[in-house]
Amino acid sequence: MKFFIDTANLEQIKDAQDMGILDGVTTNPSLMAKEGITGTDNIMKHYVAICNIVEGDVSAEVISTDFEGMVREGEALAELHEQIVIKLPMVKDGIKACKYFSDRGIRTNVTLVFSPGQALLAAKAGATYVSPFIGRLDDISTDGLNLIAEIRHIYDNYAFDTQILAASVRHTMHVIDCAKLGADVMTGPLSSITGLLRHPLTDSGLEKFLADYNKGN
Ligand code: E4P
Repeated sequence: MKFFIDTANLEQIKDAQDMGILDGVTTNPSLMAKEGITGTDNIMKHYVAICNIVEGDVSAEVISTDFEGMVREGEALAELHEQIVIKLPMVKDGIKACKYFSDRGIRTNVTLVFSPGQALLAAKAGATYVSPFIGRLDDISTDGLNLIAEIRHIYDNYAFDTQILAASVRHTMHVIDCAKLGADVMTGPLSSITGLLRHPLTDSGLEKFLADYNKGN
């Protein structure tokens, strides 16, 4: 399972990268705004800064909602860095743009996916990644993990190459459950990754080992 971090915060990206377990980064316009990154030029520079920290894929989202605009923006983003993956919204023109980019060997991530039918369309359009938002489904009392299971089932039926990128991951149990269900990738905040480190028996066990070692020294 690949681990992506879902942030535009460079410190957090460095932190995860330094652990040696990071496979990529996802961003969105809200995450950029949260870091105070505004204006096309600054946003483009920020994507390059992210690519210079991580070794893996970096999803950069288009703002246009029409096909021509998505193609124009996506081509400019793809030229920024070889690690950039074009993030396209799950709308009709987004699917059309996804097909356009996949036909040209440019990697894509179809975002804002909330149903198996949407995921099927993304795979048909040749998406590299599909991003079902599990946390936002949970927020409205709908089982986000069930969507991951349904997409896994459908993709396996037809051996689609599109990778299931479980998005809107909020906590460690989402990560573990997505891994059990066979999601190819998960993207979440740094806390959803570092939280996996923690266990009280690890802490107490280490404390005891160190105390016993020090008795003989
Ligand atoms: C995915 O690519 C999105 O950036 C993200 O996972 C959304 O998560 P949220 O629902 O916590 O905002």
